[in-house]
Amino acid sequence: MKETELNQVQRSLLMVKPVAFKNRNTGKILTILEENGFEIVSIISEKLSKERAKEFYAVHKEKEFYEGLTDFMTTGTIIAVCLQKENCITDLRKIIGNTNPVKAEKGTIRNLFATSLRANAVHASDSPENALKEIKFYFPNLKELKQNKG
Ligand code: CMP
Repeated sequence: MKETELNQVQRSLLMVKPVAFKNRNTGKILTILEENGFEIVSIISEKLSKERAKEFYAVHKEKEFYEGLTDFMTTGTIIAVCLQKENCITDLRKIIGNTNPVKAEKGTIRNLFATSLRANAVHASDSPENALKEIKFYFPNLKELKQNKG
């Protein structure tokens, strides 16, 4: 990370995936985030259509797991959360843990709540550019943070 990006207030997008929602883990996940300094700016629930799921994960459209992942994302309710904090994007990636729950560090959200690689409890934006896109996807009317590069 460049030094100019350090300690900058940023926003990121977290999504609670269908199995984590169904297993009633949303409250526990949000509590962990709030207790670690992440502020909830906005929150919604949605039942994604296949088209919306494909649009959200369009960056993965060439991958062999794209169809399975986007099918899975339509199987139940998701919770989308716009979060805000200094260094939000990096810190959120840290606290959710490795994409693959087998590799997720102990105590991370995926370590605690994932049931498989696909059902890895949550998704979080991986860059400032994607954070902006993903926040717009769920919160098109939210006013952008002035200094936010994500
Ligand atoms: P997520 O952070 O939502 O971003 C893309 C998702 O694709 C990822 O979490 C995993 O759930 C899923 N994913 C990544 N790699 C694989 C894979 N090899 N097989 C199945 N699903 C995958």
